[in-house]
Amino acid sequence: MQLNHLSLANFKNIAEASLDFSPKINCFLGNNGMGKSNLLDAIFYLSFCKSFSGMTDAMLMRRGEDYAMAKGLYLRRDTPEEVSLGLARGRRKTLKRGGKEYQRLSQHIGTFPIVMAAPQDIDLIRGTGEERRRWMDMVISQSDSRYLDALIRYAGALEQRNRLLRAGIVDHTLYEAIETQMSAAAEYIHPTREKWTERLSGIFSRYYRAIAGDDTETVGLAFRGSLHSSPDGTLRPLLDSARRHDEAVRHTSVGPHRDDIDFTLDLMPLRRCGSQGQCKTFTIALRLAQFEFLLDATGIKPLLLLDDIFDKLDADRVERIMALVTGSHFGQIFITDTNRRHLDDIIGRTGGDYRLWSVTDGTFTLAASASPA
Ligand SMILES: Nc1ncnc2c1ncn2[C@@H]1O[C@H](COP(=O)(O)OP(=O)(O)OP(=O)(O)O)[C@@H](O)[C@H]1O
Ligand SMILES: [Mg+2]
Repeated sequence: MQLNHLSLANFKNIAEASLDFSPKINCFLGNNGMGKSNLLDAIFYLSFCKSFSGMTDAMLMRRGEDYAMAKGLYLRRDTPEEVSLGLARGRRKTLKRGGKEYQRLSQHIGTFPIVMAAPQDIDLIRGTGEERRRWMDMVISQSDSRYLDALIRYAGALEQRNRLLRAGIVDHTLYEAIETQMSAAAEYIHPTREKWTERLSGIFSRYYRAIAGDDTETVGLAFRGSLHSSPDGTLRPLLDSARRHDEAVRHTSVGPHRDDIDFTLDLMPLRRCGSQGQCKTFTIALRLAQFEFLLDATGIKPLLLLDDIFDKLDADRVERIMALVTGSHFGQIFITDTNRRHLDDIIGRTGGDYRLWSVTDGTFTLAASASPA
């Protein structure tokens, strides 16, 4: 997939922008706080109907303005496509594909695949299991609508069970009915997560080694699913035996909403023993594995957004990442940095199809570009 053009109005600190992109490498150079990540966030929004930064829609409108707009012109499966977003104070947001408004935004998510690597990815390692589940769910749902369905059914039933627990209701048949629904959904969620983690783990380890460049560090991903401790592999008996305890604590203590993924480095928990550069390498390898998974699952090459990824990495690792992402396996790339040298290095590897903008206070100025003759 390719994003050929992006226009923005009042998106965060960007008053107005109209950019034509290179099909290969697009670089954004600028000092801190100038609007580089904001531009990537606009691209992210057009794919995911929400900001990468977690900001609410109201916060995305440029300070003092009461609307914001973003429009992208894509080439997807060789077909030109337009996706546009409109935000206005006091109004419902609109997202349109080909001028037609979506009834449900969930229909859009996953259709224009992108993968973003950003400094915030450290939260995948340092954050709670919820961060990792959210990431896993987001990636799997983009290629498996049955999975998304099961997640929604599970969340609905879980909410009902928690409501009973909070209200202190002790009604055996009511619990049974809800727990049957939870268990049925878990029967799809658990093995899907298990298989996905296993598959991703293989791809991920290859990328980690390709970046770290030696065999001295062994990394791993392991799914820690709540059903692993079930006597018959289903959720029923676990909920059954947890019920007394859950009634006391007034929430559901077992189930897929407690699953997690263990990240390890040399068989130790990464969050404890990983150096900053190792953690960074780990998250970049995760994102590249995510790219490969999505490409495989959807047949569409995602856009790759790399926000300030070279910080904390040694020169060898930077070098290897550059070689990887500029290879023919990856498609269109959007990359930000505060350092021109990194961007020049990456441009030097591309065979001459690139564009570089300098970014100052939300204004984008094309500073250099080339396209093959
Ligand atoms: N709604 C908004 N209206 C105006 N400015 C905003 C809005 N939201 C964010 N900003 C501004 O955008 C700036 C941050 O931009 P951005 O995160 O894109 O910087 P950056 O170029 O990526 O910098 P860094 O190199 O530090 O990552 C901040 O100064 C912030 O105040
Ligand atoms: Mg930034």
